[in-house]
Amino acid sequence: MRKQACLEPLHAIETASVDELRNLQLERLKTSLHHAYQNSPVYRSKFEDHGVHPDDLTSLEDLSKFPFTTKQDLRDNYPFGIFAVPMEQVVRIHASSGTTGKPTVVGYTAEDIVVWSEVVARSIRAAGGTAADMVHVSYGYGLFTGGLGAHYGVEKLGATVIPMSGGQTEKQVQLIQDFNPDIIMVTPSYMLNLADEMDRQGVDTRKLALRVGIFGAEPWTDAMRTELEQRLNISAVDIYGLSEVMGPGIAQECVETQDGPTIWEDHFYPEVINPETGEVVADGEDGELVFTNLTKQAMPIIRYRTRDLTRLLPGSARTMRRMDKITGRSDDMLIIRGVNVFPTQIEEHLLKVDGLGPHYFIEVSKDGHLDSIEIHVEMNSACDAAAEQAAAADLKHRVKSYVGISAAIRVHQPGGIPRSEGKAQRIVDKR
Ligand code: DLL
Repeated sequence: MRKQACLEPLHAIETASVDELRNLQLERLKTSLHHAYQNSPVYRSKFEDHGVHPDDLTSLEDLSKFPFTTKQDLRDNYPFGIFAVPMEQVVRIHASSGTTGKPTVVGYTAEDIVVWSEVVARSIRAAGGTAADMVHVSYGYGLFTGGLGAHYGVEKLGATVIPMSGGQTEKQVQLIQDFNPDIIMVTPSYMLNLADEMDRQGVDTRKLALRVGIFGAEPWTDAMRTELEQRLNISAVDIYGLSEVMGPGIAQECVETQDGPTIWEDHFYPEVINPETGEVVADGEDGELVFTNLTKQAMPIIRYRTRDLTRLLPGSARTMRRMDKITGRSDDMLIIRGVNVFPTQIEEHLLKVDGLGPHYFIEVSKDGHLDSIEIHVEMNSACDAAAEQAAAADLKHRVKSYVGISAAIRVHQPGGIPRSEGKAQRIVDKR
């Protein structure tokens, strides 16, 4: 892996004192609550129904008095009902597809786009990027926030953006060779797909300029980090975000520490709650991540329940707190005979089995009244039935001993698992 220099943070607030940060957050939080209450009828009635007023907030802890916002709130007010500015001030719309029902629609003012670009530029800097770099963006462009979000951030940093978007895998690899970018921004699962294509085309990754991969938009494990770093000869860092709160760049892992994404707390206030009771839990305890916008104009979101499970950690390379790598979304949690299972737990183990590649999905079906799972994986290279059986037995044993469930394993030949061009679909539900 190439060594990364430790660069100065882009913005002074990243290394301000904790007191300075908390004071700024409190001031911004008050403004944001007032803005939502005064300008979004949805928030006004949510607050009134809950018996709270923005003036009830005198400390950051008081935020827990305010009601949560859920995806259902956005659906109920589809498409623009929750906006807090007149439509003529909205310069951009994005939407996230969602597996069921209507998409979730979000809006931005010109000022929101500036802030978003700044936090993405800050993220690229934290990942080790400078204005001298060329950045290949393979997140999808369009309604998804990944492509355009990354794009504006690269430009804000003053670096050179290659707006590739997702898909056209062969061409992506050709352009990576021809243009020789320093940084790539893409989902980790699509990066694997690109790495396979590089192998197929006989590309020597040590000859590429690529030195950093900024990977996110889906859960991925430290085992996957090692796999990607070794195959591509890069540093792999985690970028987190969600459209409801802004898009990519809500949190970014610093390249010099690689110890979980730093949350850009001057714009996005995090809380972790017990998902059953809604109570705020202490830093360090696991739970569901909740975000409040401190500066967003078009659609200030108050206490958005992300469904993402993680915990808050103290700051390391920056003053702001970090989040641990996301275990998964509560919606993706499988309960197999009473045991809670996330796809990331399977990913961690399959990468330890000799001969198995990193591509996988999990099929869930009903076995009488109970749920059962079959893990679909593939071999790294063509092999005989005995090698397949050995790999399957090893994975089955690991999943039984470490995750605590009995899973059927189906081993496919190389290329047998469908490839991702964006977010990988890890669960195929046949129930
Ligand atoms: O995925 C925004 C994004 C684009 C983030 C590019 C990073 C890079 P949505 O489509 O709204 O937005 O999906 C948000 O994706 O709630 C998480 O469940 C998941 N997610 C995003 N980043 C990570 C990450 C974008 N680094 C949802 N690790 C979130 C784990 C992530 N899960």
